[in-house]
Amino acid sequence: MAFSYTNIFLFFFLHQLIIFSNGQNITIKGGYWLWDSGLIALNKIDITPFSLLFCGFADINSQSNQLILTSPNSFIQFTRIVQQKNPSAKILLSIGGGGANKTTYGVMATTPNSRKSFIDSSIKLARQLGFHGLDLSWIFPESASDMMNLGILLNEWRIAINTEARNSSKVALLFTAAVSGSPRINGSIYPVQSLAKNLDWINLIAYDFYGPSWSPSQTNSHAQLFDPVNYVSGSDGINQWIQQGVPPQKIVFGIPFYGYAWRLNNTNIHGLRAPAIGKSDVYDDPWMTYAQIRDFIVEHRATTIHDDGIIGDYCYSENTWISYDDIQTVRTKVSYIKSRGLLGYYAMDISGDTNWNSLLSHAASQEADGVTQGEIGKKKKKLNRLVIILIPIGALLILILLVFIIWYLRRRQVPKFQELERNKMGSNNKARKSGDNSNLQVFSFDEMKEATNNFSFDNKLGEGGYGPVFEGKLRNGEKIAVKRLSETSSQGFEEFENEVILTAKLQHINLVKVVGFCIENGEKMLIYEYMPNKSLDHYIYNQVRRLVLNWEKRVQIIEGIIQGLLYLQEYSRLTIIHRDIKASNILLDLQMKPKISDFGMARMFKEDEVEANTSRIVGTLGYAPPEYIKQGIYSTKSDVFSFGVLLLQIISGKKNTCFYGPDEQLNLLEYAFEMWRDGKGMEFMDESLDDKTSYCKLLNCMQIALLCVQKNPLDRPTMLEVSNMLKNIANLVIEFPKRPAFSVKEDEEKSESLKNYDLVQETEEVDTATITQLIAR
Ligand SMILES: *[C@@H]1O[C@H](CO)[C@@H](O)[C@H](O)[C@H]1NC(C)=O
Ligand SMILES: *[C@@H]1O[C@H](CO)[C@@H](O)[C@H](O)[C@H]1NC(C)=O
Ligand SMILES: *[C@@H]1O[C@H](CO)[C@@H](O)[C@H](O)[C@H]1NC(C)=O
Ligand SMILES: *[C@@H]1O[C@H](CO)[C@@H](O)[C@H](O)[C@H]1NC(C)=O
Ligand SMILES: *[C@@H]1O[C@H](CO)[C@@H](O)[C@H](O)[C@H]1NC(C)=O
Repeated sequence: MAFSYTNIFLFFFLHQLIIFSNGQNITIKGGYWLWDSGLIALNKIDITPFSLLFCGFADINSQSNQLILTSPNSFIQFTRIVQQKNPSAKILLSIGGGGANKTTYGVMATTPNSRKSFIDSSIKLARQLGFHGLDLSWIFPESASDMMNLGILLNEWRIAINTEARNSSKVALLFTAAVSGSPRINGSIYPVQSLAKNLDWINLIAYDFYGPSWSPSQTNSHAQLFDPVNYVSGSDGINQWIQQGVPPQKIVFGIPFYGYAWRLNNTNIHGLRAPAIGKSDVYDDPWMTYAQIRDFIVEHRATTIHDDGIIGDYCYSENTWISYDDIQTVRTKVSYIKSRGLLGYYAMDISGDTNWNSLLSHAASQEADGVTQGEIGKKKKKLNRLVIILIPIGALLILILLVFIIWYLRRRQVPKFQELERNKMGSNNKARKSGDNSNLQVFSFDEMKEATNNFSFDNKLGEGGYGPVFEGKLRNGEKIAVKRLSETSSQGFEEFENEVILTAKLQHINLVKVVGFCIENGEKMLIYEYMPNKSLDHYIYNQVRRLVLNWEKRVQIIEGIIQGLLYLQEYSRLTIIHRDIKASNILLDLQMKPKISDFGMARMFKEDEVEANTSRIVGTLGYAPPEYIKQGIYSTKSDVFSFGVLLLQIISGKKNTCFYGPDEQLNLLEYAFEMWRDGKGMEFMDESLDDKTSYCKLLNCMQIALLCVQKNPLDRPTMLEVSNMLKNIANLVIEFPKRPAFSVKEDEEKSESLKNYDLVQETEEVDTATITQLIAR
């Protein structure tokens, strides 16, 4: 009871802590409004979520080099409407834009006279119309001389702005510029020093990385935050600008409220980086506002996908494929902007939110203010006042609580730790005696913090059942993967201990090597060798990436997994049941050689033990055998079953969370069985695979896999038999498999509680990425 109270308090205060400690200021919540999108749109949109608005675009008269407005009335109305709807918002006059004539800007920046003429007219016009600042959107300076002249222009412009402020005794105009996502364009580099010195901030154009007009042959995310393939993304841009010397507090990050529509070459291949032929033929203009995209999704019942890896969305229907940023993406981007300590964000452009209740603007603003979904503005004000009173009291309580927690955790963990140390030393002693060499390194928390860049979002590789996994680099340059067990997972420690002890004893080329561990301040971390090519599931289910793994490579992977399992079951001194063999636990090294990972679930058997029983069922549905799910019995044959499922997936590229067959009511195993039995095995395979030149034949693999997934563990072959069957395929008679476990069409008995099973499997589909899933306790 006492403990659960502590938990409640802990939760409450940690929650508060997170909001405030993480609550770096997002100062700029900006948005562009473009006069050609019309005043009606401006009237419809809620502009209260913005603290600052850019009004675009003014242009340059190529004769006089002075600023001109194509539609002065729109600019005057803009200032009036903003004054009415959001009087506290700052407004900036933006010059240039994507439609402007670049040559004119290049020419204007060349001579002192033309620059002066331009600068003076810009300040004058901004003051006349009541703007608070000026923004230059020269998209983009192309040559080295353009870049040099831009640097000079900004120097002179800044001096003029300061002088004008002094003479008029007004607050100086804000002064900003939009720059490309990367500080280098066509080999010329921006005058970074001049930008950093003269401007209040830069607006980073973190979009238009790809579009149907300039990258027509492949669909792609036009505004992805991460890009593991080509490193063209928002986060890569931020890194490059900071590397060039622009401080994070001078960067405002652009988020597009629009997307681009491609035309798919093949309607069946509709993922990211799918073959395309230019722009969609549904619309004349491939550029679509967020509102148009939402309408499209509703009208065409388009499939929408949020890609968590790159942070971006796409949708498709028939041969139209659209890249865009949806609410979750915008939220994630803003939270990333906060974590990087940037000055803020801006939306391009705000009219994209029309007709959809300004969803994106609100999402961005709420995320910036740390308001969770569901809370609304009114509540916030009250809360703020309450919070002001609560902070000092809270801080004191937190301090007391922290002292208590540290004391409590110490008391709880010290014995465990000593136990672990003892075990470790014990295993080392044993290891030394038997001649092999398992030296685990102990790392400090600070070392891990440094290696993973303070566990930054950028370094995150994935999320396991027990916490996130980060990429890291040790001082000596060695790359590592760090599994940081979440502090809240109470059962984590046992698994942690288990994995450390086990893996210290296990060394095999097909098992992921544990380099060391870290236990400090209640933190538990496991440090692995770094596997640059992610895990098997990353490839085999993906329409494009599966092509990386041809049949020769997959045979190498299958053999490697078999060798790893053989080592665990037969050749090490112990018999080890992994209990969670699945595609996401097969990691790939530089040569795409497989290594089995995640020994958190593994159990050791003594030499004479054959099977064991457990009341705590762990593992992943779809891979766990029936006797384990129903009775908690596991043996080496449990891993054989999981291997069988995995083998079926490797040859077919099919997930085991979907249903197949003409009526879509067969699970993967049963579907495979029926196809094989009916002589249609080749239709089951991933059609990109070709086994003509390989000794290893697809159909034989299918038969072996089906033997592994039989219901009765005694019917399943051992791993040694699997290995032999695969190798001497020519002269070995392979048995005919029985109907697999979990079949809907039972041949003999009907007593299974299939309904239950299906139910649990449904939930697994939501979360296929987790490394580990708890089924029952
Ligand atoms: C946050 O913003 C407030 C005003 O908006 C400012 O006074 C304060 O210094 C800022 N804090 C940080 C850490 O920048
Ligand atoms: C851009 O402006 C230059 C002169 O400044 C002119 O010669 C050129 O024709 C213009 N280009 C376009 C596309 O209007
Ligand atoms: C500012 O005042 C100085 C003299 O005090 C004058 O020479 C200069 O022209 C003025 N500049 C502007 C922009 O008004
Ligand atoms: C790079 O140069 C080419 C050729 O001069 C030009 O077409 C292209 O637009 C340039 N790229 C950018 C980003 O300006
Ligand atoms: C489109 O797909 C067909 C095959 O379906 C292929 O032959 C053709 O080369 C593809 N075209 C493009 C432009 O990718």
